Amino acid sequence: MAISSLLASLSKCSMEAKRSSTVSGVVVAFLLGVLFVSPLINAKSFDFFLLVLMWPGAYCSQSTCCMPTTGPPKNDFFVRGLWTYNSDTGEAVTKCNGTSFDVKQLSSLMDDLHSYWSNIKCPSNNGIGNWKSTWKTYGVCSGMNETAYFETALQLRTRVDPLYLLNKNGILQSSWKLYDISDIESAIAEGIKATPVLRCSKGPWGYFQLYEIYICVDKDGKSIIECPVKPRFTCYRKVLFYPFDNEQPHNISTANPIQMPISVE
Ligand SMILES: *[C@@H]1O[C@H](CO)[C@@H](O)[C@H](O)[C@H]1NC(C)=O
Ligand SMILES: *[C@@H]1O[C@H](CO)[C@@H](O)[C@H](O)[C@H]1NC(C)=O
Ligand SMILES: *[C@@H]1O[C@H](CO)[C@@H](O)[C@H](O)[C@H]1NC(C)=O
Repeated sequence: MAISSLLASLSKCSMEAKRSSTVSGVVVAFLLGVLFVSPLINAKSFDFFLLVLMWPGAYCSQSTCCMPTTGPPKNDFFVRGLWTYNSDTGEAVTKCNGTSFDVKQLSSLMDDLHSYWSNIKCPSNNGIGNWKSTWKTYGVCSGMNETAYFETALQLRTRVDPLYLLNKNGILQSSWKLYDISDIESAIAEGIKATPVLRCSKGPWGYFQLYEIYICVDKDGKSIIECPVKPRFTCYRKVLFYPFDNEQPHNISTANPIQMPISVE
């Protein structure tokens, strides 16, 4: 008798506890909801683009690289991305609402994509995975449709034409020559009428080498602008501009055998 009344009171007790935990659960969910929703309300939309161009010669000299299944890319700078950024937070704006990736939307751009937005990662691939992830991460935040987004990035690359600007200033691909990073910067700055940000990586024989060029672009995708916020990378004063063999991308035996992490400040 005593036991059953104890059990009864226990079960009553636990039911009350359950009800009150449900109530507090609702309160907690509500509070969390408010907490989770408010950053979304304040979420900053993108207000400028970072055009990232990469030098495949540097990529191949620091890691193994492979010929795309679609054939040799150009011996030139590739587009790595047209990234959506916010100048207040200094952060990328990514993975907005958006449409899914449809490679058919890019059919008119295929030749240029294979030439200048190529993926030389191993194993050999056709580049589509790379474009898809760029679209889903950044493109969907750009306010452009898929065709326009990729076309804008390719056109910007053509307009900047860093290889032309460097060659014009006597900065030629070389496996041994060291160039002043300030000469590289001014060659590009003069051409685009804005200051680029250069990213280096560790190249052969422990030297730094030119790896990527970051250029800021207005959110209309048309005008090149001074960067509202700048990414910061470490370079030495003298760097290599290591050659890219686009017909035969392969492991370069002279490369530093120790894989150095890319130095970012
Ligand atoms: C996301 O999509 C919804 C509905 O389609 C729309 O109301 C909202 O404005 C979109 N948000 C962004 C950040 O594009
Ligand atoms: C994409 O956007 C461009 C520029 O706004 C427009 O000319 C084109 O018709 C659009 N394409 C599609 C498939 O909506
Ligand atoms: C490149 O290096 C990888 C791993 O070190 C090796 O498996 C591959 O056979 C090499 N390829 C060439 C072309 O030397």
